[in-house]
Amino acid sequence: MNDTLFSVSDQVVIVSGGSRGIGRAIAKGFAERDSKVVITGRDESSLAVAVEEIGTCGGSVTPVVCDVAKPDDIEQLVAQVIEDFGHIDTLVNVAGVNRRKPALDVSEDDYDFILDINLKGAFLLSQAVGRHMVERGSGCQINIASLNTDRPLKDVLPYAMSKAGIAHMTRGLALEWGPSGVRVNGIAPGFILTDLTQKLWSDETMQEWGKTNTPQQRLGVPEDMVGTAIFLASPAASFMTGQTLYVDGGYTAGWNWPIPEGGGQR
Ligand code: NAI
Repeated sequence: MNDTLFSVSDQVVIVSGGSRGIGRAIAKGFAERDSKVVITGRDESSLAVAVEEIGTCGGSVTPVVCDVAKPDDIEQLVAQVIEDFGHIDTLVNVAGVNRRKPALDVSEDDYDFILDINLKGAFLLSQAVGRHMVERGSGCQINIASLNTDRPLKDVLPYAMSKAGIAHMTRGLALEWGPSGVRVNGIAPGFILTDLTQKLWSDETMQEWGKTNTPQQRLGVPEDMVGTAIFLASPAASFMTGQTLYVDGGYTAGWNWPIPEGGGQR
């Protein structure tokens, strides 16, 4: 059977924050499945490195500099992709940053830095691409949320607020654009080892805690996100919109506790 159910072949896909980590893995996943991928990031040199690392696979990878905190960059990106490729099938909103500190120590600069990129930038990019998708009558958007989306981890409040906003944005846009054939979903990754989190997870106590509380007993890698992104962009997810899928090794399934062997029965 030539199964096209999970095919993303020939799709034009924009991945914001595609220069490293989760974004680069997702971009590679699409390119390997014959998509035409546009990766964006803040500087040309790291994008060039990413293009090289993704290498030549079935599809193509085109770098475009776009700082999602700069609305003009977003408009230029979308105009350029439409000019070069004619349309956009899928947008993956990955670009994100964090500064970990207690709420009392968060400066206005910290707050603006995080929210401008993680939430405002994602919204403006969704909107710019959405205008085109709604007019075309089809399209798919995937927003990267977080474990912080439903319940905040301690000491990362602006980040957690931005990710709660991402899930709300996902549902709200799904409501507005569903009638126009545009689907909007999210992926909430668990604890994934990337440049954003490397330092945190190099702490042994943190590693132990992460493994203890993740039923699959390991931290995630960026490649763990690829299958879900491909699924959401493919015809297999054609009746799915407004959902955020947790890809977290089971972290949110329930609470682990140090119950004695045998269930602690007397
Ligand atoms: P990373 O730091 O390795 O990659 C972040 C990417 O976003 C980079 O390509 C960076 O250049 C890009 N970026 C940052 N600011 C940007 C801006 N203003 N404009 C355009 N691009 C920008 O981080 P990682 O871990 O790969 O994170 C990717 C996404 O996944 C983020 O949204 C993050 O919040 C989210 N996430 C990560 C988790 C983890 O454990 N690593 C867990 C849950 C969510």
